[in-house]
Amino acid sequence: MKALSLPDGIAVIAAHGVHGPAIAALHKLCFDEAWSIFTVRQVLAMPGAFGLLAVEEGVVGTGGLGGGDLLGFALGRSAAGECELLSLAVTTGERGRGIGGALLAAAIDRARRDQVSRLFLEVAEDNAVALRLYRNFSFRPVGRRPRYYRRPQGVALAALTYSLSLED
Ligand SMILES: CC(C)(COP(=O)(O)OP(=O)(O)OC[C@H]1O[C@@H](n2cnc3c(N)ncnc32)[C@H](O)[C@@H]1OP(=O)(O)O)[C@@H](O)C(=O)NCCC(=O)NCCS
Repeated sequence: MKALSLPDGIAVIAAHGVHGPAIAALHKLCFDEAWSIFTVRQVLAMPGAFGLLAVEEGVVGTGGLGGGDLLGFALGRSAAGECELLSLAVTTGERGRGIGGALLAAAIDRARRDQVSRLFLEVAEDNAVALRLYRNFSFRPVGRRPRYYRRPQGVALAALTYSLSLED
């Protein structure tokens, strides 16, 4: 499995409710079904939930982030011995330089610290980049939900469920 390594100049910091607007804005850019600021804050407030933000080193995140400061995020939730990666995204201009991998590694690290045995996620069957990323991290396919995602043109796509065992 890949280890946690950050691209040069990138820091991963913890997300809080104050980051809701920045996360929702990036979510809207990255997904067909955008989460509102309210939804993002609700997710972060769930028991066991966590958020991880990729920012330029030196950007202080505790007071919110300005436009463009958020390079990527991972949202997850540990509960009942398992962790689910709820969302992962990197802003378009910063993709392909390891930020998604760094966020995923940080989420895995967090799940380990939460002492869960498995990390789950769902990914659209046509998302080649995300699938490659998850396979690089040794995630294995465990399920398929037909017609789970609907693209704007009306195309229905299956969700693939992937799992990573965290038991050594
Ligand atoms: C999926 C996503 C988070 C990956 O972020 P990223 O910062 O580009 O990830 P990385 O730079 O760590 O690259 C991940 C892997 O994808 C590969 N990759 C990057 N761009 C690619 C492309 N256009 N085609 C195929 N593979 C690509 C990288 O090479 C890397 O694999 P490697 O280590 O074997 O080279 C990002 O593409 C994204 O935000 N997509 C939109 C939202 C999304 O689909 N989220 C996932 C939902 S399940």
